[in-house]
Order: sequence, then structure tokens, then C-alpha cells
Amino acid sequence: MRSSVFVLLAGIAVVANAAAPTTEQEMAGVLGHDAECVAYGLPLTSNLGTAFPATDAPRTITDVRNDTEGLKKFQSIQGSIPNIPIKTPGIAYDSAKDPDCWWTTSNCVTPKLAGLKPDIYQAPEPRTLGYGFDDGPACDHNEFYNFLGSKNQKATMFYIGIYVIWFPLQAQRAAADGHEICVHTWSHGNMTQLSNESAFAELWYTIKAIKLVTGLTPTCWRPPHGDVDDRIRFIAQSLNLDTIMWRYDSFDWANGQLGQTPQTIQGNYDKLINDAKSGVLNNNGAIILTHELSNFTMQLAIDNYPKFVDAFDHIVPVGIAMNKTQPYAETTVTFPSFNDYVAQRGGKTTSTNSTGTPSGNTSNNTGNKSGGSASQSGGANPTKPSGASAGLALRPSLGLALFGAIIAGVFSC
Ligand SMILES: *[C@@H]1O[C@H](CO)[C@@H](O)[C@H](O)[C@H]1NC(C)=O
Ligand SMILES: *[C@@H]1O[C@H](CO)[C@@H](O)[C@H](O)[C@H]1NC(C)=O
Ligand SMILES: *[C@@H]1O[C@H](CO)[C@@H](O)[C@H](O)[C@H]1NC(C)=O
Ligand SMILES: *[C@@H]1O[C@H](CO)[C@@H](O)[C@H](O)[C@H]1NC(C)=O
Ligand SMILES: *[C@@H]1O[C@H](CO)[C@@H](O)[C@H](O)[C@H]1NC(C)=O
Ligand SMILES: *[C@@H]1O[C@H](CO)[C@@H](O)[C@H](O)[C@H]1NC(C)=O
Ligand SMILES: *[C@@H]1O[C@H](CO)[C@@H](O)[C@H](O)[C@H]1NC(C)=O
Ligand SMILES: *[C@@H]1O[C@H](CO)[C@@H](O)[C@H](O)[C@H]1NC(C)=O
Ligand SMILES: *[C@@H]1O[C@H](CO)[C@@H](O)[C@H](O)[C@H]1NC(C)=O
Repeated sequence: MRSSVFVLLAGIAVVANAAAPTTEQEMAGVLGHDAECVAYGLPLTSNLGTAFPATDAPRTITDVRNDTEGLKKFQSIQGSIPNIPIKTPGIAYDSAKDPDCWWTTSNCVTPKLAGLKPDIYQAPEPRTLGYGFDDGPACDHNEFYNFLGSKNQKATMFYIGIYVIWFPLQAQRAAADGHEICVHTWSHGNMTQLSNESAFAELWYTIKAIKLVTGLTPTCWRPPHGDVDDRIRFIAQSLNLDTIMWRYDSFDWANGQLGQTPQTIQGNYDKLINDAKSGVLNNNGAIILTHELSNFTMQLAIDNYPKFVDAFDHIVPVGIAMNKTQPYAETTVTFPSFNDYVAQRGGKTTSTNSTGTPSGNTSNNTGNKSGGSASQSGGANPTKPSGASAGLALRPSLGLALFGAIIAGVFSC
């Protein structure tokens, strides 16, 4: 009896241990918020040493003093960054003239400074929706990504660097599923309030985190809160990032704030749906701001998907809307052009399957990666971390704190 109890307990222990996912596929099979949000301390993102900033706060590049590659890149652009003032709260600024194309005061999307690409805020093709979600990877996004997969629907995912380090297997899922991954900064601050160096670091380390975890170097970003001006656009463009904004805001992130309720937020969705149906988007399509943030925002996206399918001719990642056939620096992943995507799906792209999109290589999880040539110290744990000694073991509480901050509206779009 005793020994069989022991065997049973040992069996449970083994099962519990084996349940900690180590691959993208294993993680993708976990369902339910509580199980999905258990920390797993992947070697790939544990013990990153000085290669990355700490994942509990915004940092500047000087916090990563051994990052010779980052410093070199920053120094190579530093002298050319436009001398546009930091937008400290309460700053006197002529919003009518809007010399800096500061979106926050004017919704400006066409830079004033020569040489900067215009922001992407709509899908150029008629009755087309550029489909995307901010603030991932959410630890509990499997139900949502399963839904997208069941519809063979690709989207643009704007990932926060800290979350990519916390939830690397969830980030890898976006690559494996063929979604387009873009940068949503390291710590989700208001970019125009940051020094040149900090703004650079917010982008640089998110690019590095996505590269470390997915093997892919993103070429697009969305500013948190839409807060961008020509100084920030210059820094982003210097890092080969296209700036992606939106034409409609669902305010899904603001449920319970700013007078937003589930009903008003559904009304925001309905406005876009009705505009698509009534011809408002017959010249150019739209991009809507929605979030991979909470069960509420993801479930709302699922619930509205059939209405989008009905209202739009095409629902595509922003990169495909823009004919961006090479969405990453690496040539291993290609997207079809918009026309090819439509042709592959035989016309209306919202109702038939595509031929699929190549995905990123996510098989390096046990490696000792350091994010490009950024140096590392402390060594990586080559085996699966166990319990409290795992590099990420202490971070779920930070994660909850950060999610709490998001829900409390410290972070929003
Ligand atoms: C930089 O690297 C050196 C040598 O590995 C190490 O001694 C030093 O602590 C590192 N500096 C920082 C700020 O991490
Ligand atoms: C950014 O860099 C430019 C060029 O070096 C400089 O003129 C400007 O003062 C810097 N701005 C900030 C906010 O650091
Ligand atoms: C960032 O900007 C948004 C609006 O654009 C504002 O609501 C928020 O308070 C700002 N955050 C900080 C930390 O200043
Ligand atoms: C995986 O690691 C190997 C060896 O470091 C590297 O050559 C390869 O590019 C990596 N793959 C990805 C997707 O990062
Ligand atoms: C939201 O939570 C409910 C209840 O737990 C669950 O059934 C549903 O699948 C969740 N939706 C998403 C998108 O995760
Ligand atoms: C995409 O390519 C097609 C075919 O060349 C062209 O008609 C369309 O204008 C392009 N769209 C964009 C956004 O470049
Ligand atoms: C689309 O994909 C789904 C899931 O893979 C499959 O069941 C369905 O038969 C496909 N439909 C078409 C028209 O190819
Ligand atoms: C993915 O990366 C692993 C590790 O570097 C490598 O062995 C494998 O060949 C790669 N697979 C593809 C499809 O590139
Ligand atoms: C991993 O890092 C440790 C410590 O820096 C090093 O000794 C080991 O050789 C590395 N392993 C690989 C496969 O790079």
C-alpha cells in the first residue's frame, strides 16, 4: 500500500513537472487562464545577464553597459536625431501649427520632418481591414489564437518586450501561427516623454527580445497611447521600423474607464462595421485599435469577428495590406503581396483559406542566446529550471503587478 501511494505520488510529481511546457507546441496546448499563466522559466530567457534591461521597469541603454552593439547603433544615429523637445506633461505646444507632428495633440500622421515615412493608419485597399492587436503576448492568449487559427486568420501582433521575455513560448506561437509580429516597446511608456537614449532603448531591446525568442527581427512598431512625434519617428525609422497607427479606436482597453462600458465599446466596434457596410471605406480600408490584453478584449474580438467577415471584403495583417512581402529582416519568412493573398484565397479573403504563411524557427529554446552580439554574463541554465531557482520564478508577481497596472489604466493602448 505504502509503496503504491509513493508510486502514485511520484507519478503525480512527474506529471506536474512534465506539465511545465518547454516548447511552443506544448504551451499552445495549455488552456484556461490559470494554467496558461503559470511561469515556466525557459532557459532561453532566463539568466540573460546584462544582455537585456531588467524586466520590471523602463530602462535606458546605459543600464546595459556591455551592449556594444546597441551603443554603437545609438551613437551612429545620435547626431542626426532632430532637436525636438521632450513632451513633458504641461509643455507649451502650438497644437494648431503642430511643428513636430505630435499625434497626441493633433492626430498628425504625416511627418513634418523631411525624410520620414508617413505613418500607416489605414489599409489602402477598399473595404479592407488591417487586423491587429496590442499589448501581447498575453500569457492566456491560447483560446484567442486557437480561434484565429480555426479561421486561418492572420493578424499583426504588437508585442511588449518585457512580456516577450516573460512569456517566450506565447510569443513563439505568433511566429509559428504565421502572424506578423511588431514592436510595442519594452515597457509601454509615452515615447515623446523619453530622452533620445531611452526611446532608442525601448525599441532596441524589444527588437532584440523578439529576435532572441522567435529568430525574427521585426520591421514595424506601434507607439503606446499613439504617442509619437517626429523625433520618435526618426529613431524608429533608424531602426527600420514602420510606424503603424489606426483609423478607428475600439477603446476595448478602457472598459470601466473614460465612461467606456461593454456597451459603448461594442458601439465603437459597430461604428467601424457600419462604416464598412455603408460605403465609408470604399476608397480606403481601416485599421482598428484593439488589444490582446484581457479575456474581455480577446473575447470581444472573437465575438465581433463574424461581423467583420460580413462587413469587409478582406481582413489581413497590416503588412499584407501594405504589400510588405518581407515582414522581417530575415528572408526566411515571406508574406504574399495583397493581390497574391487575395488570389490565393480565391476572392473575398474573409471566407476561404489561404495557402498558409511560413513561420519563424522556434526550436532554439534550450540554447544560450544573448540577443545578437549583446554580451551576456552569468551563464544560462542549460536544463529546464525547477521551482524557485528558475530565472523567471519570481516574475509572475511582477507580471501580475504589470497586468494590474494595465487593467488600472496606467497602461492602455
Ligand atoms: C561588463 O562585462 C564585464 C566583463 O564580463 C563585467 O565584469 C561587468 O560587470 C559588466 N558590466 C555590467 C554593467 O554588467
Ligand atoms: C536628441 O539628439 C539631438 C541630436 O544629438 C539633440 O540635439 C537633442 O537635444 C536630443 N534630444 C533629447 C531629448 O535628448
Ligand atoms: C501617457 O499619455 C496618455 C495620453 O496620451 C496619458 O493618458 C497618460 O497619463 C500618459 N502617461 C504618463 C505616464 O504620462
Ligand atoms: C538558433 O541557433 C543557431 C545557433 O546559435 C543559429 O544559427 C540560428 O540562427 C538560431 N535560429 C533562430 C531562429 O534564432
Ligand atoms: C474568457 O473566459 C471564459 C471563462 O473562463 C472562457 O470560457 C473563454 O474561453 C475566455 N475567452 C478567451 C478569448 O480567452
Ligand atoms: C499593392 O500592389 C498592388 C499591385 O501592384 C497595387 O495595385 C497596390 O496599390 C499596392 N498597395 C500598396 C499599399 O502598395
Ligand atoms: C479551411 O481550413 C479548415 C481548417 O484547416 C478546413 O477544415 C477547411 O476544410 C478548409 N476550407 C477550405 C475551403 O479549404
Ligand atoms: C531551426 O533552428 C534549429 C536550431 O538552430 C535548426 O537545427 C533547424 O534546422 C532550424 N530549422 C529551420 C527550418 O530553419
Ligand atoms: C552557455 O553559457 C555558459 C556560461 O556562459 C557556457 O559555459 C556554455 O558554454 C554555453 N553553452 C553554449 C551551448 O553556448
